[in-house]
Amino acid sequence: MNVRNPARLLTPEQLPACLALDQAALDGLWTEAQWRTELADPRRPGIGLWNQGQLQAMACGWLVVDELHITLVAVDPRWRRQGLGRVVLAALLQQGHHEGARWATLEVAASNAAARALYGSLGFAEAGVRCGYYRNGDDALIQWVKIEG
Ligand SMILES: CC(C)(COP(=O)(O)OP(=O)(O)OC[C@H]1O[C@@H](n2cnc3c(N)ncnc32)[C@H](O)[C@@H]1OP(=O)(O)O)[C@@H](O)C(=O)NCCC(=O)NCCS
Repeated sequence: MNVRNPARLLTPEQLPACLALDQAALDGLWTEAQWRTELADPRRPGIGLWNQGQLQAMACGWLVVDELHITLVAVDPRWRRQGLGRVVLAALLQQGHHEGARWATLEVAASNAAARALYGSLGFAEAGVRCGYYRNGDDALIQWVKIEG
C-alpha cells in the first residue's frame, strides 16, 4: 500500500467527499440517496485513498456469499496515472477477502480502455459480454478474478 495514501474504509460521515469525487470522476454515477445506502451497509465495503484531507480515489463493492461485486472505481482526474486506481482496487479486493470473498467480478464498458487496462493489470479476465448494455450502445464486458489472500 502507498504510504502517502493509506487506504481506509469509507464511512457515512464521508458522504460529501464521496459525492464530490463521484461527480468529478464519473459525472455523478450515484445519487445522494444511493450513496447514503452504500455507506451505511456493512455488506457494501468501500475504500478511500486520502491525501491532506482530500479523497483522491475510491472503490466500492457488494459482498454476495463468496463473491465481491465491484460496483464503482474512481480516481480524481487530477491524480490519474499515478497508481492510485490500482492501489484502491487492490485494497478493496483485500478487504473483500478479509470478509470472505474468494472471487471478484465487475462490468466494464468495452470502450473504457483505461479501466480495462487497470483491471487486466490486476488479473481480471473476461468471462462474457452483454451486447449494447449501456445507454450509448456500448457493450459491457463481464470480468472475474480469483482473490488471493
Ligand atoms: C480507470 C481509472 C480508475 C484508472 O485510475 P488510475 O489511478 O489512473 O489508474 P492507475 O494509475 O492505477 O493505472 C493502473 C494501470 O491501468 C492502466 N491505465 C490506467 N489509465 C490508463 C489510460 N488512460 N490508458 C491506458 N492504460 C491506463 C495502465 O495499465 C496502468 O498501469 P501503468 O501506469 O503502470 O501503465 C480512472 O481513469 C478513472 O477514475 N476513470 C473514470 C472512472 C471509470 O471509468 N471507472 C471505471 C468504471 S466504473
